[in-house]
Amino acid sequence: MKFAILTGGGDCPGMNAFIRAIVRSSLNLKPTTSVWGVIDGWRGLIEGNFRKLTKRDTAGLAQMGGTILGTLRLPELKDDPDMQEAMALNLHDNYFDYLFVIGGNGSLRAAHRLDQIIKEKGLRTKILVAPGSIDNDVCNRYGFSIGFYSSIEKSREMLEWIRDTASAHRRVYIIESMGRDCGYLAFFAGIVTGAEHIILPGEDVDYEKLASIIDERDRDTRIIVAEGYEKSAQEIREILEKIFERRNIKHEIRTVDMGYFQRGGTAAVRDIIASSWIGYKMVKNALNHCDSGFYITFYAGQEPNILSLDEAIDESKTNDLSIPEYMLDFFDALR
Ligand code: F6P
Repeated sequence: MKFAILTGGGDCPGMNAFIRAIVRSSLNLKPTTSVWGVIDGWRGLIEGNFRKLTKRDTAGLAQMGGTILGTLRLPELKDDPDMQEAMALNLHDNYFDYLFVIGGNGSLRAAHRLDQIIKEKGLRTKILVAPGSIDNDVCNRYGFSIGFYSSIEKSREMLEWIRDTASAHRRVYIIESMGRDCGYLAFFAGIVTGAEHIILPGEDVDYEKLASIIDERDRDTRIIVAEGYEKSAQEIREILEKIFERRNIKHEIRTVDMGYFQRGGTAAVRDIIASSWIGYKMVKNALNHCDSGFYITFYAGQEPNILSLDEAIDESKTNDLSIPEYMLDFFDALR
């Protein structure tokens, strides 16, 4: 059998462990298999840019952040039938039986479209997809995406460092977190570090109340603001400064953006385990000629939830960008 691996969209820790698991499981379980990496994500598939992978290529890869295959954003792919068809034909003409994909929402949609074209044209390749995104915004009702835990770990470190200075100087820090339109990363980073307040996408913030919460505190205050919220950390700072000026209270406020530091670096244990397990299960199922599908799981040993690609892209059933009410109560209880 002949397999290809593609890492799509924004990189995240766990992608390399996924590559390693696919390569090693394939070559160990069926040594006649050949495994190829698609270079630079979806662009590489359109251009037919493949590189054969050996076990040696994947040595020392389990923990490494980023992706050795490379990836890039390709928003035009969504509306370009020529690009979509080129991908399907490149897989078919190169005799690939399976394409293993790890990526976020955009990659899931691209994989779904690719699978449709392959089926319409009666081509050979099946597509298996794993969720890889620090945002946890893909099929998140079935579990956390690969990369999410690593990103919380990075955020935790940064938020603890900031606490030292915030506490020493009695300052207020407004800290931006990545996550696109999804508040999960900001929320869980806040939970694990005991932040005083988290501002989520779409939230109707009562700034007068927020100013009072800050004022009641004796030392440091860390407010985490999710990327998807309508105002930046700087804009929030200006609003709060005006309120304090009117109330004639002095508080020193600073802003920080955790940004890309949340996306790189060593993968968290959970992400290495989940991506390795999913990779292994995909290979086992591919060797048994399974159909295309979306795989998600939490830990090794747990049978993955396998959704059809049609089910997986139905966001009304699989995905929720907002934090459920009972989780908000959880945060409030820990304040
Ligand atoms: O999807 C991961 C993510 O890091 C988001 O949190 C962020 O909005 C976006 O990617 C940034 O994308 P880029 O790397 O293309 O600037």
